[in-house]
Formats: sequence, C-alpha cells, structure tokens
Amino acid sequence: MQEKINEIYQNALNAISQANDLKALDEIRVAYLGKSGLVTGLLKGMRDLPQEERPKVGQMVNELREKITTVMSQKESELKSAEMNNALASERVDVTMPGKKDDLGSLHPINLVRNELIEAFAGMGFEIYEGPEIELDEYNFRLLNIPQDHPARDMQDTLYITENILLRTQTSSGQARVMQEKKPPLKILSPGKVYRADDDATHSPMFHQMEGLVVDKNITLCDLKGTLEAFLKKMFKDDLKTRLRPSYFPFTEPSVEVDVTCFECKGKGCHLCKGTGWIEVLGAGIVNRRVLENCNINPDEYQGFAFGIGLERIAMLKYGIPDIRLFFENDVRFLKQFK
Ligand code: PHE
Repeated sequence: MQEKINEIYQNALNAISQANDLKALDEIRVAYLGKSGLVTGLLKGMRDLPQEERPKVGQMVNELREKITTVMSQKESELKSAEMNNALASERVDVTMPGKKDDLGSLHPINLVRNELIEAFAGMGFEIYEGPEIELDEYNFRLLNIPQDHPARDMQDTLYITENILLRTQTSSGQARVMQEKKPPLKILSPGKVYRADDDATHSPMFHQMEGLVVDKNITLCDLKGTLEAFLKKMFKDDLKTRLRPSYFPFTEPSVEVDVTCFECKGKGCHLCKGTGWIEVLGAGIVNRRVLENCNINPDEYQGFAFGIGLERIAMLKYGIPDIRLFFENDVRFLKQFK
C-alpha cells in the first residue's frame, strides 16, 4: 500500500510540475482528487481491506491528499502570478508615445456662407424653400417671362434631359413654384445648386445661388434696398454702402444690380473693383406683373421683390478667393483654412 501511495504521489508531483497553465492544473486536480480520481479511488478501495488495517491506510491516504493539495496550491499561485506578469508585459501602454489625433472636419466655405445668409434672413422672417434641381422648362423659364425663343436663354444654356426637362439654371425657378403653391404674403429664401454652360476662373458649370422672394401689399424698391442693405452689412461690414444700378431680368421690372463699396480700396478705385470703387454682388428687382399673373396672383393687389445671390461670388469676396475652381477641387489644404 505504502508503495502504491508513493507512486501516486510521485506521479502527481511530476504532473503538477509540468502543468504550464491553470487549465492543465485543474485537469490534474480532477484526475487525482476528483470524485473518480486516483486518491478518491484509494479511499473507496478500503472496503476490501481487513478491519484493523483501515484506520492506518485511511490516515495515509488523507496525508497523501493533503500533500498533493499543498503542492497544487503552491503551483496555482505560481501560475497565477506568471499569467499576471505576462498580461502586464503584453498589455503595457507606453504613456510617452505621441497620441493619435483624429482630424476634425470643417464646413465647406460655400456651406459657411449659405448658413450665414440663412441666419441673416431668418432673423428677418424668411422661410426656407428648396425646389428641385431637375426642373421643368415652365418653372425655370416660361412662367418667369422667358418664352421659348427669348434671347435671355442664351446666357443660361444648360443640360437638357428632354426638350422640357433641364438642370435648372437659376433658383428663380423656385419663385414660380412657391407662388403657385402658397398664398401671399410670402417671404421665401431658396438656396440650391444651379447649372450653366460656363467654365472659367469666375464661372463654374455648377454653382450655388440663394433666391429671395417677398410678395405682399405695397412692396416697393425701398423694401428691397433696405432688406439687402441689412443683409450685406451683416455679411460684410457695418459701414458698407450699397447702390442699385439699372439692369435687366425678364422676371423683374424694374431690375437692378446691387453694388457695394469696394472692400479693398473703400471706394477710391483699385484692381479689385476695376477702378470703379464698387463691386457688384447680386441681381434683383420688383417682381414683373406678368410673373405674378402667370402664377395667379393679382398684380393690382400684390407686389413683390426678388433677388438672386451667387454664393461662390459672396464667398470669393468675403474670403479673398481668386478662383472659383478652388471650391470644387477638394484640396484639404484649401478647405482646412475655413475651420
Ligand atoms: N436669377 C437671376 C440670375 O441667375 C438673378 C435674379 C434673381 C435677378 C431674382 C432678379 C431677381 O442671374
């Protein structure tokens, strides 16, 4: 019996010393001390022993159990601390490494200008309306007093999808839609993309406009001037002056170009304003009676004013950007400057 016990003990010691993780150690525990383990088997085997030998053998087996348990718990704490050290080594964080910085994006300058404009006009009670970019000839031209063979169509050539469906050339198309959909009084601001067969340093085949339309009783050119002046002062400088210069658009009568005093020379004349002291910023006018009639609004009862602002033009003036193509090249060195 003693021999057998020694043999089991030696085997257990060997197995324990070779266990290199906690899982292996647990398997050894089961094999020796578990319900059907070797040591437990010895105790069960005592039934077959003569009565007088049992206490002695019992004591020996219990000692064996204790010894194995002690060795095991020693090994267990060794393995635990080894595992801990491994984890500490492999998960170590080098706090002296430079941090990873996520580059934060920024709004595109066109969106910055768009938001600023909306904010300026929202304060005056304007509502946003967004019309479709793929538009009917009717809204883009005919209802705006630009019939089929009108020479004004030349300046606004665009991509036609069918003879009657085109990429809109101006956000003015929204004017007719709004006037058909809603009843006056109206105060509408309509931002969006427009398309024209144009391509050079100050023109792009796709660009952005912001249309303004007010229809109410007793509207005059003074209302137009006051509204635009308030917005331009907010957008540029408080001491800026505006002037209206006669112009022509088929859908407004009278029509005007709105100029502001040159930012660069303050009106003396320089390269930016081509010596005139003024810079043209947008087109506007009193809504043509014909357009009101086309949209079923009685021109003897209601009048309106409208304006169209080129967002690229405003952004170029505001930030001193020399070439419109910079807006669309997606060069992050350019875009980053607007953070
Ligand atoms: N739609 C005109 C253009 O694109 C601008 C404009 C809008 C003029 C509203 C007058 C009134 O040139």
